[in-house]
Formats: sequence, C-alpha cells, structure tokens
Amino acid sequence: MSDFFQRHPRFFDTGETNPDPNRLIGRYGAIIEHRRDIFAAARVLDLGSHDGRWSLAALDAGAAHVTGVEARASLIEKAEASFSHYGVEAGRYVFQENDANAYLREAEADSVDVVLCLGFFYHTAHHMELIAQFARLGARHIVIDTAVTQDDRPIILMNTEETADSRRSIDYMGTGRAAVPVGRPSPAALVMMLDGAGYETAFYPWPEYAGDWAALPDYHKGDRMTAIAARRG
Ligand SMILES: C[S@@+](CC[C@H](N)C(=O)[O-])C[C@H]1O[C@@H](n2cnc3c(N)ncnc32)[C@H](O)[C@@H]1O
Repeated sequence: MSDFFQRHPRFFDTGETNPDPNRLIGRYGAIIEHRRDIFAAARVLDLGSHDGRWSLAALDAGAAHVTGVEARASLIEKAEASFSHYGVEAGRYVFQENDANAYLREAEADSVDVVLCLGFFYHTAHHMELIAQFARLGARHIVIDTAVTQDDRPIILMNTEETADSRRSIDYMGTGRAAVPVGRPSPAALVMMLDGAGYETAFYPWPEYAGDWAALPDYHKGDRMTAIAARRG
C-alpha cells in the first residue's frame, strides 16, 4: 500500500469533505493503487478536484500532467498552496475555477487520457452528458468514485441538495435557489451509460477490502462504489 497521504499530510487538514486519514488511505487503494498502470505518462483530468489531493496523487503515480477543475475558488487556492508547498513543477498542473460541464464543453477533443470523476457524479444531474464529453475528450480510462442507489434497475434517483455546502453541488443553473436537483445512479445505470459511450466497466472489489472499515461505512454497505471504465478497442 502506498504511503502517498502519509507523505502529503496537508490533505488531512485542507479537505472539506471527510479527510479522515483511514478513509483517504482506503480510497487511495481503489482510485490509484488498484490501476496504477493507467496513470503512467497520462494526461489526467480531475473533475471536482477539491483541495487537489487526487490531482497530486495522480502525478505521484506517474501522470505527466493534471488539470483540476473545481467550481469553488477557495478550494482552488488550497490546491495551489499545497502544490506549491510540495514543490510540484509548475508545468505539470493547472487548476481551473469552473463548472465541470462548462469546462468540458469548451475543452479540446483528444486532450485527456484519464478522467478522475471522484465524489462528483452524485452532485450533478448531467450524468450522460459528462460521460459523452469524457469520450469526446479521448479518455481511455474513466475512474468514477460515486455514491450509488442500490437497485438492480438502471435508474438515477433524483434528489435536491443545498449549494451552501462546499462538499456538494454548486448552483449550476444560476437560478439563485438554495438547492439544486442532483441524481444518484444505480450501478446498472453507470454501466449502461459507460457502455453507451464505448466503455467497459469494472468495479473495484470493495467487499474484499482488508483494511479498517470504520471510516468507510458507505463503501462497506455498498452505498458507494469505484468504477474503472476502459475504452473498447
Ligand atoms: C464531495 S467533493 C469530492 C472531492 C474529491 N474529488 C474527492 O473525491 O475526494 C465534490 C467536489 O466537487 C466540487 N463541485 C461540485 N459541483 C461542481 C461543479 N458543477 N463543477 C465543478 N466542481 C464542482 C465541490 O466544490 C467539491 O470540491
């Protein structure tokens, strides 16, 4: 198991969304360590990059460059401060303050190898559009770590969430209302959407996780999963 977070302990303090060390270390195994091979020399896009923890983890695992897209300016500042603190070469990363979909619509085709969509796919109602854009950008691998609806049917369960909470959705429609619609896909919906865009999906085997479950109850109950999708052909 990598010691990435032990070597970069600032992320235990800068994260505004559950920076419990055991949770981050457990998630690292699923998000990075399990398919470390996909990061070699990759151009990575990290959507909802938060304090930059997974952007730096991708570079540390061998990525050539990472673009972090995060809608909240205060979190971009935290990410840039940490990258500067850890002496990351300036040419290897860029953080963009933007709405994920707005960014994707303008992004260049064939400019990305790996997409990290972590903790974001249930804070949006734009699921299929996101995946279609990942394909247009040329991603060969897509890692989606998301809360799921446990249902055998391919469904997306809609809900609303408060935009004042920095862990959650922004007011992506600019309506000025305090809450926005978001949706939580079932695993079957996730597979169907990825399949439709030309990707084969595998799930990280969370049930076999041998570490400390205390900080990972959602993964333990099957309420959250990590999908790694590979482009066919
Ligand atoms: C639950 S956090 C996940 C952080 C990190 N990716 C992780 O998995 O540990 C969701 C992040 O997405 C950002 N976010 C929410 N809606 C967004 C949007 N429409 N565009 C870009 N970022 C967004 C939030 O500000 C927050 O930093």
